Formats: sequence, structure tokens, C-alpha cells
Amino acid sequence: MSAPIHISDHPLIQHKLARLRAVETKPPEFRDLIAAISRGLLFEATRDLPLRPVEVTTPLAQVTCREIGVRIGLVPVLRAGLGMAEAMLEALPEASVWHLGLYRDHATLKPVTYYNKLPARSDMDLALVLDPMLATGGSAIAAINILKQHGTPKVTFVGIIGAPEGRDALRSAHPDVPIVLAALDDRLNDIGYIVPGLGDAGDRQFGTI
Ligand code: PRP
Ligand code: URA
Repeated sequence: MSAPIHISDHPLIQHKLARLRAVETKPPEFRDLIAAISRGLLFEATRDLPLRPVEVTTPLAQVTCREIGVRIGLVPVLRAGLGMAEAMLEALPEASVWHLGLYRDHATLKPVTYYNKLPARSDMDLALVLDPMLATGGSAIAAINILKQHGTPKVTFVGIIGAPEGRDALRSAHPDVPIVLAALDDRLNDIGYIVPGLGDAGDRQFGTI
């Protein structure tokens, strides 16, 4: 059986996604929106994390509480995943961050790996692969291949907008990997962009249009 695909219907995420898509939204606001949506998606993606008991002394009494029982890694796919990782790290400061540099060749649409900052030994229980756009799925699949070859036991993909083509490709390559998105759009156009989408997520974040 395949892992779940979760498309968030949270009103705050949908509200911010509308502004993120808008062509007039400039890089400073675009980055703020990526951050806000990512914080929301982090809560969705970590809903089933295992907890363990922890004893806490409040000013009044001792109480058994619960804390996260696994080591989590954030794996931003450069460049566009950087804003997602930064925002999630604020909510989960103990997470490690592993950077993976991949770009999509414009002619072939195939991912090219140019940077890999994984530590020598895998020490995380769950890796969240972060990339706002799941278009053909090639970049997500390549990033997850790298993590699995490196010995990462569990991986979740967290994106903002997906295309059906990317969802199907990722599902078929890595059926064990849950997918969390803010929206699943209609299709890819003939140059591999998601429609309606938001354009180029890296360029819009970093003002390189
Ligand atoms: C974009 C996006 C994904 C990839 C998605 O990156 O951030 O990494 O394309 O496309 P795919 O699903 O077809 O692989 P891009 O190659 O534009 O690099 P950038 O983030 O450095 O701009
Ligand atoms: N990468 C992007 O940034 N946007 C798309 O629509 C597809 C790939």
C-alpha cells in the first residue's frame, strides 16, 4: 500500500497560497508567504510523529508530558527549498539541515545534482525533503534517491504546489514516501511549468526573473 498524499485544506494556507500565486507579488512578500505556508505544512507533515514521555516540573507540580522521540532532518532542495527550511527551522530548531543542490536542465527537464552537503553518516530517523514545486517529479525523486542511498530510514516530501504528473512519478518511484502539499494543480505546460502554478519559485523568491 502507498503512503498517503495530503493536500492541505487549511484556510490560512489557502489564503496565503492565493497571494503567493499572484503575478504582482514581489520577492519580499513572496518570501514571507513561503515561510508562513511552510510553517503550516510542517504541522501537517509531522502530525503522526512518535512521542515519548518526559517528566516536567511546573511551578505547581510534576507532570508527565510528551516530547518528540525521533531525530528530524530538513532537506531543502536548492534553491527554492531554502525559504521553506529556514521557516521550519524556527519551529523545530533542533532539526539538522542537509542541503541538496539540484537544478532542472531546461532542455531535458532532468535534474542535475551540483551540491550535496549530507554528513558522512546518516543520523536522522525522518527526513523532510523540501521543495515548493513538484512538477515532473524528477528533482524530488533524485533527492529521495540520494537520501535512501545514504541510509535515511524514513522520508516525507513537503511541497507547496504539485502537478498530477509529478505526484504520479514520485508515487511510482517512491510509494513509501508520504507527500504533503498545499495544492495539486491541473497540469504541466509544454516547457514543464505547473499550470496555474506560480511561475518559477526560485526566481520569484530571490528576485532573479
Ligand atoms: C525547480 C523547483 C524544483 C524543480 C521542480 O527548481 O524548485 O526543484 O524545479 O521540477 P521537477 O519536478 O520537474 O524536477 P529549478 O530547477 O528551477 O532550480 P532553482 O530552484 O535553483 O531555481
Ligand atoms: N519549477 C518551478 O519553479 N515552477 C514550475 O512551475 C515548475 C518547476
